[in-house]
Amino acid sequence: MVDLSRYLDAAATSPPAAEVLAAMAAMAPLAWANPSSLHDPGLAAAELLERSRIRIGAALGAEPGQLVFCSGGSEAIHLALLGSAALLEPGRLLISAVEHPATRAAASLLQRQGWQLQVLPVNRQGLVDPEILAAWLEPPTRLVSLIWGQSEVGTLQPLERLGALCRQAGVRLHVDAVQVVGHGPVNLAQLPVDLLSCTAHKLQGPRGVAALALASGLELAPLIGGGSQEGGRRGGTEPVLLAHGFAEALDLAAARLAAGGGRDPLAPLRDQLWGRLCALEGLRISGPAPGGGVERLPHHLSLLVSSDDGRPLSGRALVRALARRGWAVSSGSACSSNGAASAASPILLAMGYGEQEAASGLRLSLGPWLRPEDLERFPEDLEAARRELQAD
Ligand SMILES: Cc1ncc(COP(=O)(O)O)c(C=O)c1O
Repeated sequence: MVDLSRYLDAAATSPPAAEVLAAMAAMAPLAWANPSSLHDPGLAAAELLERSRIRIGAALGAEPGQLVFCSGGSEAIHLALLGSAALLEPGRLLISAVEHPATRAAASLLQRQGWQLQVLPVNRQGLVDPEILAAWLEPPTRLVSLIWGQSEVGTLQPLERLGALCRQAGVRLHVDAVQVVGHGPVNLAQLPVDLLSCTAHKLQGPRGVAALALASGLELAPLIGGGSQEGGRRGGTEPVLLAHGFAEALDLAAARLAAGGGRDPLAPLRDQLWGRLCALEGLRISGPAPGGGVERLPHHLSLLVSSDDGRPLSGRALVRALARRGWAVSSGSACSSNGAASAASPILLAMGYGEQEAASGLRLSLGPWLRPEDLERFPEDLEAARRELQAD
């Protein structure tokens, strides 16, 4: 049994909330049927699916018909980019230098189909410069994909401003909102955004379901054919029970945000933790400092760790040293924690850090299961882990 009071890796994934599991268990007896079937069990499953779609749409500021259920954020991103490109003349695609690997992979596939790829640089805080974006929005740019909340360093891009530039230029914008949804208000109807991806498992929903939300009237070609499900935009029998769990998780998140007056109640917990950590030797923040004027994900802290004499220490070794003390943290995004040839984070490299510093990252991401007292011992344990490593 995992001790959740020491699980600080919410940005990798989050344990489904008890309310989500209970809601799924309650509906499991009728959610199994095929929602495309015309008999009673099928109609009951279809009704549950559509009710979930209405709830999820309401949470994201989209009409139910504007949602496409997918298997995960990675699929939603591929559908957004490849499904858009299939309806456009090949042109130029812009992405930032701090995208999730799923976006980079979809962009590479488009390059093989004849698209030009332009990667926009970011500054030391991970921000895209609006002027650089504006300069690249000239033809033949036809598609832009930007990560709203960066998973490794927490940077929130100024989406209103960047999106408005894309709208002015008439260029379609996809936003990877996987880390944002559940931690801040999202209203597609009021954002200058054409496509928005999110995934249930980052917000205490079940694994295996995600949504791509489309601006009203936007057309998209399917990646997976074979059925007329999801308005012909994604073939395959829909995961009715998972969609129900997703809707429940979004409702819980909305209630938490409402209780915090629109702000994630995890932000003060994160700020408190940062207040204690920044008093320690050898720790610096990467990405925007909490409260420093540039926005960052409210549940997220990312650190660069060094020895007393300023030598960068290995983030991966720190993760293991903290695991020996019972803590679950990460050295970057979960997707880059395994198997990458170099320990240096491509995200930190893109932000201008050197190879060694870029391998010294530590990510702490909080979830609603944590109470302030759970975090009391963390600074002490991190300091002990740091000392152990610098002595090696
Ligand atoms: C910013 C971001 N985008 C996309 C993904 C991919 O989502 P999924 O794991 O549901 O495929 C992740 C997951 O780590 C993420 O953090």
